[in-house]
Amino acid sequence: MALLPLLFFPDPRLHTVAKPVAAVDQRIHTLVADMLDTMYEAKGIGLAATQVDVHERVIVIDVSEQRDQAVVLINPHLVWTSTTTHLNEEGCLSVPGIYDGVERFDAVTVSALDASGQSRVVQAEGLLAVCIQHEMDHLLGKVFVEYLSPLKRNRIKKKMLKAQREDAR
Ligand code: NI
Repeated sequence: MALLPLLFFPDPRLHTVAKPVAAVDQRIHTLVADMLDTMYEAKGIGLAATQVDVHERVIVIDVSEQRDQAVVLINPHLVWTSTTTHLNEEGCLSVPGIYDGVERFDAVTVSALDASGQSRVVQAEGLLAVCIQHEMDHLLGKVFVEYLSPLKRNRIKKKMLKAQREDAR
């Protein structure tokens, strides 16, 4: 078990656009295992490689109550989105303590490789659909607070920087 250090907003590295994974090899297996450990330890429901400063298209998710249904998406891309959206309260391990509403598609279909490198299609709705969209944004260098108004975003940025200064003492 290995825990990876998280990047926290407004760290500029969170804006890095991730590259596709070239091969699902031992290095990626280790990354996925460490990301799962890190997500479960932090009690998160999703984690993108971007958040652990690895800029490759890897996502881990588990929205189950029992924390035993990991979804691993490597090189994910959306193949379908619903026409309907809804406002959902989101949080992020990289923006601790902040929750706010973001408009997301109600349902999505995503094509990706799984942890063993097999190609798979995932049809998602509800929390899983929201989580997939949130994590795929991370891979594009986008943090959910960037959907909020500039006023709110700046307030969050100041709060985060203050908390990080206090932690550093
Ligand atoms: Ni996040």
